[in-house]
Amino acid sequence: MTAKRTSIHGQWSSRWAFILAATGSAVGLGNIWRFPYLAGENGGGAFVLVYLVCVVLVGIPIMMAEILLGRRGRQSPINTMDSLAAEEGLSRHWHLLGWMGVVAGFIILSYYSVIAGWTLAYIFRTGAGAFVDADAAFSKQMFTELISDPERLLAWHTIFIVMSVVIVSRGVKSGLERAVKFLMPALLILLLVMVGYAMSTERFMDGITYLFVPDFEQLADKNFFADILLPALGQAFFSLSIGMGAIMIYGSYLSQKSSITFNCFSIAIADTSVALLAGVAIFPIVFTYGLEPAGGPGLIFITLPIAFGQMPFGTFFGTLFFILLLFAAWTSSISLLEPAVTWLVENRNMSRVKATTIAGVIAWLLGLVTVLSFNHWAFSFSFAGVIKENGLFDIFDILTSNILLPIGGLLVAIFAAWLMSRSSTVDELGLGDSTAYQAWRFAVRYVAPFGVIVIFLNAIGVFKLLGFVE
Ligand code: TRP
Repeated sequence: MTAKRTSIHGQWSSRWAFILAATGSAVGLGNIWRFPYLAGENGGGAFVLVYLVCVVLVGIPIMMAEILLGRRGRQSPINTMDSLAAEEGLSRHWHLLGWMGVVAGFIILSYYSVIAGWTLAYIFRTGAGAFVDADAAFSKQMFTELISDPERLLAWHTIFIVMSVVIVSRGVKSGLERAVKFLMPALLILLLVMVGYAMSTERFMDGITYLFVPDFEQLADKNFFADILLPALGQAFFSLSIGMGAIMIYGSYLSQKSSITFNCFSIAIADTSVALLAGVAIFPIVFTYGLEPAGGPGLIFITLPIAFGQMPFGTFFGTLFFILLLFAAWTSSISLLEPAVTWLVENRNMSRVKATTIAGVIAWLLGLVTVLSFNHWAFSFSFAGVIKENGLFDIFDILTSNILLPIGGLLVAIFAAWLMSRSSTVDELGLGDSTAYQAWRFAVRYVAPFGVIVIFLNAIGVFKLLGFVE
């Protein structure tokens, strides 16, 4: 056995610290903003079902593999892959996996920050009572006004990037733990309040049915394999923060004694519960107020304010909700920067502050593309049977979630389950050679890689060409 490394960037103060930080990374806009709007665009129940299957069969096993690599390498993902490949006698080109993650992280952060900026704007709007007694038309108009104004989007985007740079430059561990410990439960409670409101709406059951009962007829004009599976798989990667080295770097700060399996299941359960609760809170409102489920990325910003405008103490709850959503986005953005920052610290000998500032500037600049994609540069195109209206933003989103993250995850799975020696993985997972270990190994060796490959081939239309599917 090789001597165990330690990270120059430090270690989590306790095993709960890791779970909290990783949950902070996983739970974010992906659960509350992205999940409901994708479910709405992709026909509801069928998407949700496929999403859950992807989380269990592909997401959790790959998350375990990614944390395992991180803890064994104990450096930035780029250097971790480099050292592990050397250790296992493999090509150094594996560090390209780390690079791909850094690139994906910048692209995701660049648009994530713009959406977090919408959240910031909505804290003030809701706080000022803008939505009292608002109807659907008014709420829609408010949203359209915001996104058509590049100057305002740019201002909020800039504030969010600065917020992220400030917290990352101080080191991931200080502050983060305490923030997540109180804010995550608070967010959960507020989501339950929203669910309570949803239950009081006329069409609560329609929302539930839409979300949990797959309606295959509605999918008649879609290709189930290509159109539903790919976005669902992408959402599983996005929501769990896997496939780009974020959870790998968090794993690199994890103590050798902590159980990767227990941690992963806790994180995935928390993450999935928040997404489902968000869906339950939103769809009854969508139906009660005659909105379109396929309303696109503005969905929660149009539906939730209507609810806040109607419910008792709505201005208070609404403002608090957007504040907590902002914190959730903040704790996620940290993990998008961390792989690039640690690499700059390790390889360019920079201070954390300088490294974070440079990374922040890159993400800020890239974010200008998203800012403009909602107004001056807007164009539409069709993807997986859905009309996407925000050109380059959608392309960034599809490129990262549906392509780069699954490829990253696929490579992690191949590395951990096919190339790394079995004993190294037994050693890291600490499950011995039990059934649990074998189930994991089977999942990362076969289920996850083949799942990703089959979904990709379908999406590219290869099977169609070969005549395998209609
Ligand atoms: N999972 C986060 C969310 O749902 C977003 C996120 C943070 C992420 N780090 C990531 C997505 C790394 C992909 C990869 O909001």
